[in-house]
Amino acid sequence: MIIKSVELETVCGITSKLPDTDKPEVAFAGKSNVGKSSLINGLMNRKALARTSAQPGKTQTINYYNINNCMYLVDLPGYGYAKITLREKEKWGKMIENYLHASRQLRAVFLLIDIRHEPSDNDRQMYDWIVYQGFEPIIIATKSDKISSRQLPNHIKMIQEGLNLKSGTPLFPYSALTKQGKEEIWEFMDELLGF
Ligand code: GTP
Ligand code: MG
Repeated sequence: MIIKSVELETVCGITSKLPDTDKPEVAFAGKSNVGKSSLINGLMNRKALARTSAQPGKTQTINYYNINNCMYLVDLPGYGYAKITLREKEKWGKMIENYLHASRQLRAVFLLIDIRHEPSDNDRQMYDWIVYQGFEPIIIATKSDKISSRQLPNHIKMIQEGLNLKSGTPLFPYSALTKQGKEEIWEFMDELLGF
């Protein structure tokens, strides 16, 4: 995809109704701080349109980025953020679940996992929920600049085993610093959406 225009078009809070979009969407899920908003900036060739933070819990709404007026990248709030109350956690969980369940234009869900760490129980739950909703999750192993290329195969294996991935599940290492993986992820999305 050659990026010609990007716009943050819709921001949905806990009580907002999801927009009735007429263009295909892909969504990015993953625990707080894993790098969802940074990935979306990278894919859009923008430094900071999607707000990022070293503190987890930055994105608290569902944000729709209109790309070239032909598709949306959807930034989801992170899960597993410890510093919020249980009620807030439940509300966010429901919001993400409801989105996956109710979004009519959703074509693919990317699940982001920090390449350095074993997937957590929350990651496994999210993976299972995505599958339950009828999607085949695509894995993005973020922050790949934090490990050496020599360590890469072992870390990929750790994620594949930790999530018990079906063989053939796509997994893209990505770095927001070096942009490793960006072209591969766009190629995958272009093919998926028929662009
Ligand atoms: P929430 O909105 O809280 O759910 O987090 P998020 O998943 O959107 O993460 P965000 O993109 O805000 O990134 C969190 C932190 O990780 C920021 O300090 C980023 O700069 C950093 N970060 C994200 N991606 C990378 C990466 O590929 N490499 C490195 N080294 N740091 C990254
Ligand atoms: Mg974010």
